Formats: sequence, C-alpha cells, structure tokens
Amino acid sequence: MSDTKGQILHLLRTEGDTVSGKILSTALGLSRTAIWKQVRKLQELGYAIEASAKGYRLDGSPDTPLPWEFRGREETVHYFPEVSSTMDIARKLARDGCPPFSVVVADRQTKGRGRLQRSWHSEPGGLYFTVVLRPSLPPLLSPRVSFCAALVLALTLKRLYDVAAAVKWPNDILVKERKLAGMLSEMEAETDRIAYVNVGIGLNVNNDPSGAAAVATTLKEILGRPASRIRLLQAYLEALEARLATIEEADIIAEWKTHSVTLGRRVEIVTERETVAGTAVDVDEHGSLILQLADGSRRTVIYGDCFHL
Ligand code: BTN
Repeated sequence: MSDTKGQILHLLRTEGDTVSGKILSTALGLSRTAIWKQVRKLQELGYAIEASAKGYRLDGSPDTPLPWEFRGREETVHYFPEVSSTMDIARKLARDGCPPFSVVVADRQTKGRGRLQRSWHSEPGGLYFTVVLRPSLPPLLSPRVSFCAALVLALTLKRLYDVAAAVKWPNDILVKERKLAGMLSEMEAETDRIAYVNVGIGLNVNNDPSGAAAVATTLKEILGRPASRIRLLQAYLEALEARLATIEEADIIAEWKTHSVTLGRRVEIVTERETVAGTAVDVDEHGSLILQLADGSRRTVIYGDCFHL
C-alpha cells in the first residue's frame, strides 16, 4: 500500500491540479473507495490534499522522509517517527540480511548515540539516519567507507546549497568551524570480508541544536530558511551509491584531505587514556591522523576526539 500512496502522490504532482477519483481509480486499478482511504491516510500523515466533488488536489507535502518519497527506494527506506537509535534498528536489519543501501530514518531518537559513548541530541527537524553498506573491501580498509560517507556528505551539501562544508577528522562536517553533522560507524566482519558497515549520520537541518554539547550550527541557520530533509537524503543516497561503486580503486582519503579543515592545524586529540597535542600533518591510508609533536617526532592516532586549537 506504500506503493499506492506513492502512485497517488505521483499522479497528483504530475497533474498539479485536481485529478478526479475516477482517473485515479482507473490509473491505479483500485476502487474509488480504496483511493479515498489512501487519501485519508496521506492527509493524516500531513499531506494537504484538497478533496472536492471534482476530485483531489495536492496543495502541500510534509517534509517527512516517508518511503514513497524516495522513488526506486520504497522498499529500502524504513521511516519511523521515533526510535531509540537508528543504529539499533539498522544493526538488526543488517544482521537479518537486508540489501545494501537500506536506510533507517527517524524524526526523533530517544537514545541517539554519538562517538565515544556520547549521546546525540535528536530533536525534531534534524535528519537522523543510518545506512547499511556492504562494500567489497577487506575489513582492514573499512575506514575508507566512513571517510567516503563524510566526503560525499560535504560534497552533497556544497552542490545542493552551496555551503562551505568541510570535513574534520575523523568524520564531522563543519561549516565555519561549527558542527553541522556528525557520523558514527559500526561494522561486522569475518576475517577477509566485511558483512556490513552501518553509517549513522546526524545532520542538523531545521532542528534546534542548542542542547548539543559541541558548537553546532544548522542548515536552516546557514541558509536563513528551512531545508528539505527529503531532498537531502535522496541526493545523499544517490551520490553515496555512485561513489561506493568505485571504492576499491578510488583514492578516497586523498580526496577527503582536499576538503579537510584539520590538516595543517594545531589539534588536541583526547581519548579515554590520554590527551595528545600536535600539528595534524596527514591522514594515512587507514584513516589514522598523523601528528607532528613539539619535539619533532610523529605520532599516529587511530581514534579520539579532535579539538582544533
Ligand atoms: C558524533 O558526532 O558523535 C556522531 C553522531 C552520530 C549521530 C547519528 S544520528 C543517526 C544515528 N543514530 C544514532 O544513534 N547516532 C547516529
């Protein structure tokens, strides 16, 4: 029935004016009562559909990432008004064998997770999703996937909205030093093959990020108007799918570096065990950050919180 809703919306959008119940019922091969029931459900979901004696007219759509808004992905987009964390649901889907590029997206998360065991504030208006990826890479090269996901997000934001999005090590997206998006990855692998890499993204779109600990910004604040979460997610998934098709041969990390705001900076890396300060001079093929310390020696950092000094 999700398909029926998509088809009704498609016809109403294509027409742009009132479409009679008869035309809809013939086009979809359903009774007029069945069409009416689907229209009622769409109205309940926030679609402004004007119903009159002449038929139905679509006056507005909610910016809710419902599966039928993603043409060609209706079966693989799993939308929830509220979840604990999209990571939890995506993990179950991945373990149960869902196809690659399955997406779990929610309006709110009650237990949104950030990196390093932090929580991620997930107020309505933000875009919170996890995408299940199944790259054909050896597990050792899995960091390439999250670098690719971050790079593609920055490029998508630039392309759609012309914003100066940059990547911060390891996988944040910053605009003018303020955090627009964060990313969390989770992987399961056998010795020689990745079973899945789940990439979870929290993107501040139209939400109020004031509850977040880091200095955050939103797309709405940057653009001075609300942005469409549907458009963003659709464009991101298309771009990510295209990029991952060449992940084996492409030098993603080299390209990531050209969009990085971390390299060349003085940084402090904080882990549970220690704090190291130095100049970020490079990122190696595994995605580790290479620091030049005050004594001239070099140190490779695999993970940690990175603060630009
Ligand atoms: C970070 O910067 O610390 C990473 C934040 C990742 C947040 C996203 S929101 C969607 C997905 N579900 C979660 O619980 N976390 C990630």
